Amino acid sequence: MEVRIECAKKEDFAEMITLADLTLPDRMNLHELKKYMELFPELIFKATIHDQLIGFSCAGIDMYQTTGWLLFSNVRKEYQGQGIGKRLIEARLQALRRFATLRTVLVTVSETNQSSLRALAAYGFRLAHAEQDYYGPGKHRHVLELPVWPMACSPTDSPGWKEDVSV
Ligand SMILES: CC(C)(COP(=O)(O)OP(=O)(O)OC[C@H]1O[C@@H](n2cnc3c(N)ncnc32)[C@H](O)[C@@H]1OP(=O)(O)O)[C@@H](O)C(=O)NCCC(=O)NCCS
Repeated sequence: MEVRIECAKKEDFAEMITLADLTLPDRMNLHELKKYMELFPELIFKATIHDQLIGFSCAGIDMYQTTGWLLFSNVRKEYQGQGIGKRLIEARLQALRRFATLRTVLVTVSETNQSSLRALAAYGFRLAHAEQDYYGPGKHRHVLELPVWPMACSPTDSPGWKEDVSV
């Protein structure tokens, strides 16, 4: 089974929304996805098998290009638990790392989302703080952070993600 990870295109929108509605209902919509694509076209990735969409993920970066965000990620249920979610994290980190000014990457995650938490921990993300009612009453989120050290002065024992990994 060859899973390809590559940049998503506008033509993928319809399939992406259909998938998002299945994996995480009421979280993503076409307008949000369009905005992400306009703002960060090089930070939206899709996972495919034989040209069939089985997952996608979005990232963004702030106006100073120092803080990256992992914004959304999903994998079709039948393909979960096979490392595809991790590859989508890796693709976004690699793309964000191309911004030389990048210093940190943030992500919000529910404390009950074990697969997200495990995948993010594998890349060195650690809890920064918890925010009550982040997405509305009762919808709390943990904010996780990954420090990114400049290549030239990386402490050797730093947990910060710094490798140039291939996708
Ligand atoms: C979160 C999600 C994208 C992860 O994708 P995935 O392809 O299943 O992730 P991976 O296979 O790379 O696994 C990541 C880790 O989670 C673990 N994992 C996978 N499924 C799990 C489950 N049901 N329960 C607990 N851990 C699980 C894996 O073992 C792996 O941990 P490890 O590195 O310690 O072995 C996917 O589960 C998903 O689409 N969930 C629904 C949407 C969602 O919640 N998105 C995130 C918020 S935007």
